[in-house]
Amino acid sequence: MKKLSGAEIRRRWISFFQSKGHQYIPGVNLVPQGDKSLLWVNAGVTGLKKYFDGSEIPPCRRIVNVQKCIRTNDIENVGHTARHHTFFEMLGNFSIGDYFRDEVIPWAFEILTSEEVGFGIDPNKLYITYQPDDKATLELWVKCGMSRDHMIPMESNFWEIGEGPCGPDTEMFYDRGEAYDPKHIGVDLLRNDIENDRYIEIWNIVFSQFNSVSGVARKDYKELPSKNIDTGSGLERLACILQGTETNFETDLFYPIILAAKEISGQPYEGDNLMAYRVIADHARSLTFALSDGAYFSNEGRGYVLRRIIRRAMRYGQKLGIKEPFMYRLVPVVVDLAKDFYPELQNKAEFVAKMIKGEEEKFLRTLSSGESMLHQAIAHVKALKSDIAFPLYDTFGFPFDLTKEICAESGVSVDEEGFAELMKQQRERARAAREDTQSFHKQSKDLLAFLTPSEFTYESTAVEATVTGLFVDGVAVNSLDEEGDVVLDITPFYAESGGQVSDEGTIETKMPPPKSAASAKPPAAST
Ligand code: ALA
Repeated sequence: MKKLSGAEIRRRWISFFQSKGHQYIPGVNLVPQGDKSLLWVNAGVTGLKKYFDGSEIPPCRRIVNVQKCIRTNDIENVGHTARHHTFFEMLGNFSIGDYFRDEVIPWAFEILTSEEVGFGIDPNKLYITYQPDDKATLELWVKCGMSRDHMIPMESNFWEIGEGPCGPDTEMFYDRGEAYDPKHIGVDLLRNDIENDRYIEIWNIVFSQFNSVSGVARKDYKELPSKNIDTGSGLERLACILQGTETNFETDLFYPIILAAKEISGQPYEGDNLMAYRVIADHARSLTFALSDGAYFSNEGRGYVLRRIIRRAMRYGQKLGIKEPFMYRLVPVVVDLAKDFYPELQNKAEFVAKMIKGEEEKFLRTLSSGESMLHQAIAHVKALKSDIAFPLYDTFGFPFDLTKEICAESGVSVDEEGFAELMKQQRERARAAREDTQSFHKQSKDLLAFLTPSEFTYESTAVEATVTGLFVDGVAVNSLDEEGDVVLDITPFYAESGGQVSDEGTIETKMPPPKSAASAKPPAAST
């Protein structure tokens, strides 16, 4: 078996399939264009769906690509196992109504096992799963040289993700041996779908012949206009196997990021630190690629996923003793590693680093004010009520798992059920608020003309501010001696939004100085 760099694996993949008549089409942006069923591009086939469902004619019926993907459903596993990532590159070859089973299986065997044009893997190290009814697939693999006892029938071999092309599949696994199988379970790990780092799935070939539609049962899926092949192989996993590393994280695709993080923290890459470094390296890649592709941090959808990712990375950074913003310093390292294949990253690097730094600063402020509020709240109690824990999370963005951790350290119990109930109510309010925004309210000429921005801050719940506008029923006034609206240039009052309840508080003014002192009383602080 050859020791191949990540770049060489990509190169061999593309050139092997070009030699079989495929056209190389660059991967698409991570943010799906015109596909509402997905938050992120999550497979090589995503950008090619339009060819598969017959809505567009492909430039060539045989396509090879390398696709950036984000999948966050396994985020808790990232750093824990050798092979899970939020961001990864998928190598793929595709047939759009051209070749099918008879061609793709021999090609797969050839590229996997050939020293010369492929990866030189020993077939004895390969195990292949297939749909039990798909005897044609079984026989083709055996004809190529696979031994029958390395062929595993699996009922679950059917691939679909979101709407679109799907079908039965055959999956290739590499056996890393007994060293990764401490209980000596062997191939039953694979057969019984037991979580393990011994048999690594390296490639999936989908016989893509159905069109999945949400709400329709699988047995009722319609056949696609033509039979297709859709395949996906994880570059990082191939690199791990071909570079003989313990996990994907020591390959040339990740390790320089870990070294840079190590430089920042000064902690060794070993023991309990391993997971933290791996999470950080993985998340640095997803953030850099996603933000470069036009995604941004926000409180919902894609932006919320990115927010979760950066917060998770920062929490692991803290476990390594890093107290300052640091993820932004990894951006140039990620860009440097990927720039030969993704030159477009270079123009965005500075902007992306800035966005990440800003988000890190914001989260650090959240953590420190949230933590001191929590410590105050639990100073004299043995149980933390949900009406304190929830606003801490909901209004202040303080992670609930951190609340639980801090409480556990102080021997304080947390009302998790109450928290879940408040969470449910919050979701219902958000839904109702969304419906409400569908309808228009009466327009106010003065409010429409009022363009002075107001900055929101939770740096402190009391700030010095200037009154920039006064309104009664939407009409601008010069003074207020009845109920009305006050606009401040900077405010700690969170507005009612997205189902979240607004803050309450007081405004004190000492006339005649122009500055006023405003102090908000968010629900958490008021209890
Ligand atoms: N589309 C298939 C996958 O993502 C190949 O595994």
